[in-house]
Amino acid sequence: MASLAGQAFRGKVYGIDHSPDCVRWAAEYNRHLIDSGRVEIVHGSVENLPFREESFHLVVAVETIYFWPTLLQSFKEVHRVLKSDGCFLIINEMYLGEEAFEERNKKCMAGEEMTIYFPGQIEQMMKEVGFKNIYIDLIEGKNWLRCLGRK
Ligand SMILES: C[S@@+](CC[C@H](N)C(=O)[O-])C[C@H]1O[C@@H](n2cnc3c(N)ncnc32)[C@H](O)[C@@H]1O
Repeated sequence: MASLAGQAFRGKVYGIDHSPDCVRWAAEYNRHLIDSGRVEIVHGSVENLPFREESFHLVVAVETIYFWPTLLQSFKEVHRVLKSDGCFLIINEMYLGEEAFEERNKKCMAGEEMTIYFPGQIEQMMKEVGFKNIYIDLIEGKNWLRCLGRK
């Protein structure tokens, strides 16, 4: 969030997390940006975003969609709060389908309540809720994924 706020000189960056602890830590870390009105951190859940339709130019989800209980409903919410022509960027450090990471990814999914996705699953659900121009970029050897879609 601090990095985004550093780039959006005239914009405001909102963060949301359903964990009160994470909201508190993020608020402490970004205190100076919150005090100057550049950042706001909200407690809430992605399935029911506490923001009006067409509020944002960009929504960024870093290392979090694994935990979203219903990806389709969450993507619908992201689509709702984006301005027309707004973008949704997903950044994950794990995706399914790269053999070298199969064991590690299986262990992660067994140990925690998380779902790691195939790139095609993410693309399909993005399409289903109405995103266009979906671009997926994989960094093989690291198992990183970046997905960008436009409303
Ligand atoms: C691995 S952390 C990543 C946090 C941050 N994006 C980063 O890169 O440092 C995943 C975060 O997603 C949050 N989260 C999980 N499910 C959520 C949901 N349904 N709604 C909002 N936040 C959620 C968790 O509380 C956690 O803080």
